[in-house]
Amino acid sequence: MSSSKYQFIHNIIPHLSPSQKGQGRANVNIALAKYWGKRDIELNLPTNSSLSISLPGLGTETTIQWIDNSKDTITLNDQPCKPEQPFAARLSHFLEPFRPDPQGGFEIKTHNSVPTAAGLASSASGYAALVLALNDCFQWQLDLKSLSLLARLGSGSASRSVYDGFAIWHQGQQQDGMDSFAEKIDQAWSNLKIGLLEIDISEKPIGSTQGMQQTVNHCELYQAWPQKAEKDVVTLQSAIANQDFTLLGTTAENNALSMHATMLATWPPICYFQPDSIQAMQQVWQLRAQGTEVYFTMDAGPNLKLLFLEKDQQQLKESFPNLKVIHPFSVESETTT
Ligand code: DP6
Repeated sequence: MSSSKYQFIHNIIPHLSPSQKGQGRANVNIALAKYWGKRDIELNLPTNSSLSISLPGLGTETTIQWIDNSKDTITLNDQPCKPEQPFAARLSHFLEPFRPDPQGGFEIKTHNSVPTAAGLASSASGYAALVLALNDCFQWQLDLKSLSLLARLGSGSASRSVYDGFAIWHQGQQQDGMDSFAEKIDQAWSNLKIGLLEIDISEKPIGSTQGMQQTVNHCELYQAWPQKAEKDVVTLQSAIANQDFTLLGTTAENNALSMHATMLATWPPICYFQPDSIQAMQQVWQLRAQGTEVYFTMDAGPNLKLLFLEKDQQQLKESFPNLKVIHPFSVESETTT
């Protein structure tokens, strides 16, 4: 691990003396303007800002405890993980700079409430929950900005999962990464709904970390992306401020397709679409042509996330019988199937 990463972390955390068993929980988020590309791999610094919405009720709960004279022990949904498993290896690597001494280990218990059927990546909620648990374990009492900075090191999108509702992750300019953190956009939108449309939940051929690296290095169209993404973030901020759903939906859908265009224009090409993904997109376009205002976004996988307003929920449930509806801003019931 490079000294710049240790320096970054020790600029933020006050000490390394654990005082109790720590707990943290965080929700997954989906980006309406995507993060796709790093300008610094070690510090997880993005080439562009991004903007997301949190999905309440779908996330990660983690407890962490420091144990002297032990190795890391990690369980995921009550199943012990072998240290060499990619999930455990990535977590232990992330925890390196937080170890009070080289002899001990962390005991980590993680539960994901993200249903596998939703096809949602859980690294965003996972690393946000882990950082919140560390903050509790060490009693650092960090503010949300500092927690976002630390979560970013685990997974870029985790910087946004520290917050509920809308969040913006500022790409920042500094080399040390101290200005690249997420902030909450303090605005609710009570009739805005998200629909999770499962296409395929089997493991994707290429993860987002590798996929974005390959795109940055081998796509001639990529140079247009950071500017486009920055513009979309500004447009989305104004759509949210004015509750302009048409502007929100068109910008989010176009942003997602633009990101996928850079992947397709990479060599070797990266294609997360499956035939059923395309069919679902066409169904969305058809519904729009018929007057139902619905848009989609897609991440590094074949599943679609639909954006629509409450008044069209019934119609969408009829068009997509498996749709899982999330209510990002209503308190009484967060999810309905
Ligand atoms: C397409 O945050 O999973 O979902 O920083 O390498 O862990 P790492 O990548 P990750 O990438 C998310 C990519 C995305 C878009 C987004 O969430 O903004």
